[in-house]
Amino acid sequence: MNKKEIMDVLNFRHSCKEFDINKKISDDDFEVILEAGRLSPSSMGIEPWKFLVIENQELKNELGAVCWGGKVQMPTSSHLVVYLSRAAKELRFDSNYINHLLKEVKHLPEDVVSTYKGIMKSIEEARFKEDSDLEAYASEQVHIALANMMNVAAMQGIDSCPIGGIDRKAVEKILVDRGLLDTDKFNIALCGAFGYRVNDPGEKLRQGMDEIVTWIK
Ligand SMILES: Cc1cc2nc3c(=O)[nH]c(=O)nc-3n(C[C@H](O)[C@H](O)[C@H](O)COP(=O)(O)O)c2cc1C
Repeated sequence: MNKKEIMDVLNFRHSCKEFDINKKISDDDFEVILEAGRLSPSSMGIEPWKFLVIENQELKNELGAVCWGGKVQMPTSSHLVVYLSRAAKELRFDSNYINHLLKEVKHLPEDVVSTYKGIMKSIEEARFKEDSDLEAYASEQVHIALANMMNVAAMQGIDSCPIGGIDRKAVEKILVDRGLLDTDKFNIALCGAFGYRVNDPGEKLRQGMDEIVTWIK
C-alpha cells in the first residue's frame, strides 16, 4: 500500500449513519475484518474480547430500538457486532481464563507462567483493586479491536460505525434472554455496525496537526 492509498483509506472511514439494507458484506471480506480484531494488541496480551456477530435482522432491529446511538445504523447494517469484554473475575491472575490463555493459547512453560502471573498480581494490587477499574481497563482493549476492524473494513471499501450510545442494561437483557450472553463472564463494551453507505459523508473536520502534535527532537 502506498501513502496515497493509506490516506484514501483513512479518509474513506467515517462513522456511517445509514447503511444500504440491500448490500451484504461477503463472508470472505468479513473474515478479514474479524482477523483484524483477533490479531489486535491488548495490554499484557489478555485478549479480553468476544465478538457477537449479528446478521439476524430481527435481532438487529430489536437492538436498534434500545440504542439511541445506533437507531438507524444497527437495523440497516449488514453485520452488527456486539463487543463483549471479560468480567473482572475472569481477568484476575489466578482465573481459569488467564490459565487457559497462558498455557493453552500462548504455550508458555510453567516457570514463565508463574512469573507472568506474579507480574499480573502486582499490577492488579496496584491498579485494579476494584473490579470496576479492571473492567474499564478490559473495555479499553476491546475498543482497540474495534478500531482495527473499522480500518480493515475501510481497506476493503466497507463502511462502519462505532456505537457507544447503547442502553447496556437493555442490550444485556435482549442477549441474555436469547442465551447469547453469560453475564458472569462478559460485559457489554460497545457495538460496531458494518455495511455499505447510503449517503456520502461530509468533509472530515479535525484539529490541525499543530494543535495535537508536539515534536521533541
Ligand atoms: C467510542 C465511540 C463511540 C461512538 N458512539 C457513536 C454512536 O453511538 N453513534 C454514532 O453515530 N457515532 C458514534 N461514534 C462516532 C463518532 O461520533 C465519530 O467517530 C466522530 O464524530 C468522528 O467522525 P468520523 O468517525 O466520521 O470521522 C462513536 C465513536 C467512538 C470512538
